Parts: sequence; structure tokens; C-alpha cells
Amino acid sequence: MDEAAVSIMQPTFIKEKIPSAKFSMALGNKLGLCELDLPENENGCTALWTALNKALARVIQQNLPITCFSVPKADAIGKYGEGILNGGILKNTPDMLTLASIDGVACCVVPTLPFASTGCIQFIELDMSQSSITAGRKARRADITVKFVVGTLSETQVEAVPSESIPVESIASLKENKIRLEEGSELKAILVEFQEAEEAAAAAAAVVVEEQKTAEDEEMVVTAWDVKGKIDYTKLVKEFGSTLIDDNLMKRIEAATVGKGNVPKLHRFLRRGIFFSHRDMAALLDNVEKGTPMYLYTGRGPSSSSMHLGHLIPFLFTKWLQDALNVPLVIQMTDDEKFLFKGEYTAESGDNLNHFASLTIENARDIIACDFDYNKTFLFSDLDYVGRMYPNIVRIWKAVTTNTVNGIFGFDGSSNIGKIAFPAIQAAPSFASSFPTVLEAGLDTDQCCLIPCAIDQDPYFRMTRDIAQKLVKRDHGLGGKPALIHAKFFPPLQGATGKMSSSDENSAVFLTDTPQQIEKKIKQHAFSGGRETKELQQTHGADLDVDVAFQWLKFFLEDDEELAKIENEYGSGTGEYWSTGKVKERLIEVLQELVASHQERRAKVTDDEVRKWMAERSIVVKKN
Ligand code: TYM
Repeated sequence: MDEAAVSIMQPTFIKEKIPSAKFSMALGNKLGLCELDLPENENGCTALWTALNKALARVIQQNLPITCFSVPKADAIGKYGEGILNGGILKNTPDMLTLASIDGVACCVVPTLPFASTGCIQFIELDMSQSSITAGRKARRADITVKFVVGTLSETQVEAVPSESIPVESIASLKENKIRLEEGSELKAILVEFQEAEEAAAAAAAVVVEEQKTAEDEEMVVTAWDVKGKIDYTKLVKEFGSTLIDDNLMKRIEAATVGKGNVPKLHRFLRRGIFFSHRDMAALLDNVEKGTPMYLYTGRGPSSSSMHLGHLIPFLFTKWLQDALNVPLVIQMTDDEKFLFKGEYTAESGDNLNHFASLTIENARDIIACDFDYNKTFLFSDLDYVGRMYPNIVRIWKAVTTNTVNGIFGFDGSSNIGKIAFPAIQAAPSFASSFPTVLEAGLDTDQCCLIPCAIDQDPYFRMTRDIAQKLVKRDHGLGGKPALIHAKFFPPLQGATGKMSSSDENSAVFLTDTPQQIEKKIKQHAFSGGRETKELQQTHGADLDVDVAFQWLKFFLEDDEELAKIENEYGSGTGEYWSTGKVKERLIEVLQELVASHQERRAKVTDDEVRKWMAERSIVVKKN
């Protein structure tokens, strides 16, 4: 410290209720306060805070005693300068000043004396609310406030304290008129190191950009089990042979949903292009307009006990469709699929088929908690219900060759025969006649099927559509083909490639996460499209295409106006949402609320309730 500018002795006022106090100091070469050259950007400031916290942690760990002693005020001013009077606040104190010191670390003038004894620091922390490091070339100064609590002594410790005050001469560091922490040089070294690290990081960042480019160039893979690489949805639609939803179709969907008065507006997933592709939607709407009955079909492969936000996307949309169209819905739980693909067998404990059956029940609770209409919804486990679909499964087996299935799903001679048989089981619910009781349908039914799902499930239904005519009467409105409406993938926290995975804890927010977990995951893991420094962010704004917080808000923030505001402000680095921090905070709020209300509804779903939803019964909507 340059003691002309600031005294090494900082006045402090100890709070009486909790014996705590604080002292403050300013750092920065620029203002001639100290020789430390402060960093110029936010990362450098973080390094500085870390170093300071380390120093404080050491002080606490060493359990250094606080020593109190008195000196004549005139001597103290003579020796340490007027600064100890803190701009005159202490001018009117008595002639003797009480000082408290941790030898070599800090020394304070203590104007009131409720705790004028010696003790150990119980607790010491940087008070971030009152400290700041102003970064940037111009300012480069830091104001730091250290809060501490003085421990009270046990009776035996009090007895050991000398009754006379300790003479100032015994405080070694005060003799030098200097207080030096060993971390001072460490801090300096850290900052130099930081400078070097910055340069290295810039070089490394260039490599990462290169790698990212390669990752983007990495072949896009979308199968029913694997989603990899940066997804080009236009290309995908071309490869799969589905069709993008255009304005014309959107208007027709609006007329068939909003136009019927059951929902106030198009679902945000449609408004924002999240459900973006389809097969035969227009033909389905033709049929619906003619009064042909239809039903919805979707599903879940229960591979883990908790579902993540990505899984929720098709279900939230299906719920809206059910309300909007006022139609029945069947939901398939493919516990058989998950066992065939992920199950295990050991000689000691046998296989784990039952495990997947129990996951069906756990996942069913999450699905029921999406608020479907019980009277119009049938939820079934393949293991349980498959017998009713069996005639149709056999028909599909007969119609599809092994070569076709291998071609679509990549099976080969080493795949277990269940895998090869399974696609027919996911295909079967596309035909109303698989539900003789539930949909009151026989082979001669007119009912049309619409399947909302993410686009990874499309291969199953391409196969289904190819052979569909063999399972329906000749004049079925869609030739038996199920219509499909496809969603894009809800991206993982790490960035906008691939899809979220249940097996990577930190790639997803789960429906069982606590508010704290949600906050932590988003703060720590959500990939940011924000710029490196405040200045760059305020000049260029964030890259919204890769920013996960913004992408997630697009899925879950209902209010279009607010989303547009965030898009504008974050994209330009201005206004309330100029920074990643602000956008993440908003996302955390939105998700905490969404997950909490989901959990509240889920908690009410008892085993009995699940059984009711899974009981075979008619869900046909009787229309007058
Ligand atoms: P599963 O359990 O892998 O996924 C359930 C549903 O969630 C969709 N999905 C996603 N949507 C958006 N973003 C994501 N990150 C994301 N991850 C998963 C899936 O596309 C699916 O719609 N075999 C199926 C179960 C099934 C099914 C169906 C699905 C059986 N019949 C009919 C849809 C329609 C499965 O394992 O889904």
C-alpha cells in the first residue's frame, strides 16, 4: 500500500448483535494505490477474486489470533497517517485508540469496544455485494471489502488473556509500517500467469473453432437410436422424404384447431417452427374436414426412471392436439424395445426385463402429469397389451422383409431376432384395428391416425406407411398410412448438436431435478453464444443460433413478445437482456416453474391412478 493514499490501519465498526465487522481496501496501480497491475477483463477479475479468496482461506485455516491493544491517538496518527481516522469519523474518539491486529495480515482501529479482547477469526469472506473490481483499461481498480466474525472465547481462554493491553511494539508487522501478505507476490504471479494463459487460450480457441467446424462437418446421423452432428433439418427432410410445414398448411392446421374454438391460438411449437415437418397432414385434414374420425398415437421407450425436458416436447404438443382436435389418444410404452436393445442377462441374476416393465410405470406418471384427458387417453405397455395387437403385428411381419428392416434400421446377422421383429410392434398402433375395444375399431374402420413425435422416430413409420394398405379396407381415406408431424430436437446443454441424452446427467434437465439442480446445470453447463468480453458482447451481441439458453427459451417461454425482446436485446448486446447471465436467469425461472408444477401434478398420480389409465376401455369421443 502507498500509505499516503490509504492507511494500513483501516477503521472498523464491530456490529454488536453478531460480533462481525469488515474492512475495506482499494487496489490498483493505475490510481497509485498499490503496485498490483489489475486485469483488464472479466476473466482476469475472476482470477483476482479467486486469488483473494485463497488468501482469506489460508488466514482462516491458520486460525491466527486477533490481538487487541491500545495506542495514544497522536502516536497512531503520527505513525500511520490521518487515514486511520477514516475521513474524520474517528476524530472525536478518546485519546487512546483501540487497535485489533492479525499479525502480518491486517490491522484495524476499533472505535467501540464490546469485543476488546483477543480471539480467533471464526469466519472471513469476501463480501461480493460490497466489493467490486472495475475492469477495463480506463478504471482498473478494485474495491474489496472483507467481512469477518470475531469468535468469542471460552472461559479458560479468557483467563489466559493478559489483563494489560499488549504493547504496540510486540506487533512485529507494525514496526515496519507495512503489512504484506505472502499472497501479494502470489497474486502478482497469478496475474502474469493469467496474461500468458489468455494468450494461450486465444490460440487454443482458434483450434476449437477449427474442431467445431469439423464437428459440424461430421456427418449428420439421425436414426431411431442415435442423433449426432449438427442437424441440418432441411437436408434431413430431403433425406427422409417428408415435407416442411408451409404457410398454407399452417393456415389449414390453424383452421382445424383454433378455428374450432377449443384452443386460443396455435401452440408455440408450431408458431416457432419446432414442429416443422410432416407426412400427409393435408390429406389428414381433408379427411377430418369430411368428418372422418381420427385419433392420435405417440409413445415412449422407458429407458430411465426420469424423463428429461426433451421427452416432454412431443407429449406437450400431443396434449395440445388432443384439446384442439377433441380426439382420442393412444400412448405406447415400448418396454419390450428397451429390453431388446439395452437389456442385460447374467447367469447369477437372470435378465432385467422386469426392470423395464417398472420403468413403464414410473414414466407413465410423468406422462399422465402432462394433463391429458383421462376419458380420451389410453396408455399401454407392450408387454401387457401386445396380445390385442398381435393379429396386426403378424400382418406387418408378413408384409415386411428382413432386408427392408435391415436397410432402414441397420440390423445385421448379429442382431437378436427381437430387434428385427420390434419395428412391427411400434408400427401396429398406427392402425385403429389394433384397438378393438379402445377405439371400437375393426379392420373395416375409417379412422385415420396422426403421430406427433420428434423426427428420429420417422424410420418406423416410413416402414409402416409402405405396407399400410395391406391392413385396411381399400377405400380408407389415407390408404391406411398414418400421418405424421415431426419435431426438431430439444438440444443438449452442451450445444446445439445431437439430442439430449438420459445417460449424461449434465446434458439434460430432468423432470425430477430440484430448483437448485436446474440453476446449477444451466449456470454451469448451458453453452453460451455470448462474446468473450463485455465490450465485444455490447458491440456484436450473442450468437443466438448456438446459445442454449436462448434455444431453450424458444421451446418453453410462452410469451412471444418477451421472447422477441430477449432475441433483440441479447442478439445485439443491449437493454435488460444484454448478457448471458440475464438470459440464463430468465430461463432458470421459467424451467423451475415448469418442473415444479409438473412435479406437483406427478405427485398426485398414485399406482391406482396409473392402473386406471392403463386399463383397456373405450376412449372414443362421442360427437353429437
Ligand atoms: P423415446 O423414449 O426415445 O422418446 C419419446 C419421445 O420423445 C421424443 N424425443 C425428443 N423430442 C425432442 N427433443 C429431444 N431431445 C427428444 N428426445 C426424444 C422422441 O422422438 C419420442 O417422440 N421408440 C420410441 C417410443 C415410441 C414412440 C411411438 C414415439 C413408440 N411408439 C410413437 C413416438 C411415436 C422411443 O423410444 O421414444
